[in-house]
Amino acid sequence: MKNKIYLAPLEGVTDSIYRRTFEKYYGGVVKYFTPFLSPNSTYKFTTREFKEIDPEKNDVRITVPQLLTNNSQHFLWAAGQIAALGYKEINFNLGCPSGTVVAKKKGSGLLYYPEEVNKLLYEVFSGLEKVCTENGAKVPEISIKTRLGKEKPEEFYEILDIYNEYPISELTIHPRIQSDFYREPIKPEFFDYAVTHSKAPLVFNGEIKTIKDIENTFSIYPVIDAVMIGRGLIENPELAMKYSKGISEDLSTEIDIERFKKFHNELLEQYIEILSGEKPVLHRLKEFWGYWQQPFAGQEKTIKKIRKSNKISEYKALFEELV
Ligand SMILES: Cc1cc2nc3c(=O)[nH]c(=O)nc-3n(C[C@H](O)[C@H](O)[C@H](O)COP(=O)(O)O)c2cc1C
Repeated sequence: MKNKIYLAPLEGVTDSIYRRTFEKYYGGVVKYFTPFLSPNSTYKFTTREFKEIDPEKNDVRITVPQLLTNNSQHFLWAAGQIAALGYKEINFNLGCPSGTVVAKKKGSGLLYYPEEVNKLLYEVFSGLEKVCTENGAKVPEISIKTRLGKEKPEEFYEILDIYNEYPISELTIHPRIQSDFYREPIKPEFFDYAVTHSKAPLVFNGEIKTIKDIENTFSIYPVIDAVMIGRGLIENPELAMKYSKGISEDLSTEIDIERFKKFHNELLEQYIEILSGEKPVLHRLKEFWGYWQQPFAGQEKTIKKIRKSNKISEYKALFEELV
């Protein structure tokens, strides 16, 4: 299928409950990436991590588990486990800009050490088949999600040369460097460079918010057939659904409140079921309200109250007021 939309992984936001409920009410997304799992020397997933890949809680056909590590043995162990669960693709995180991650030379922090990226990819691609065979699993594809570099976007030239040495199934580029975090303007000229130099098929990620943005990205880069959207899709959950149905934005700027209500209430009920205590449930829901502003323009006061609520009953009453 041409012109696909992928849901970006957002740690603390797009967990398995969110992804499953989103797919039920909205969809239009071809692949859902899990927030990163961090395999380590315990050679065990935490309970929280396992929920992200548990086939009972995830559709293995459309979910792509993501790994964050700088250790090929840890990567291969996790890849063997994930492949044995039936997943067809594993994504490698080489983009996370968070200070603690970068300090451990992981995510975009590893990009500063291209020879280590090279060694790690070499070991992963040479060891993958063996670890999957041992687990009785089919060898999954390995895709990468990357930034341009850590300190300077020009680091990307060498990084891309390294990626080109390996059979990476898809290369998603978020055209920022580590120190840009999520704020500084994106640097699409480096995506242009990748278009002419990458051997792996490319996916564009960054600041896509509207159907126009999706259309523009596909028209600027006719060689790509997928874009990955994070915040834009959380803010407007109808975005991918509308795009995939060929609806043009001008005809439909409003969101369907009844659908949103059902989506929201089902999320809330599931978090009430799995989290103990009101505080963790409210904390989880409030995370979304950082994004759900756009459909409720003019109702900022109520949203503020929602974000300050301390009781689920109070939260529910405010939500009813809003919708
Ligand atoms: C709160 C938050 C959590 C994120 N967690 C992850 C993650 O676990 N793995 C990852 O590869 N990217 C992560 N990202 C980056 C997003 O996947 C995406 O690359 C970024 O938000 C830019 O895309 P957007 O402009 O469409 O949101 C995170 C971003 C945010 C804001």
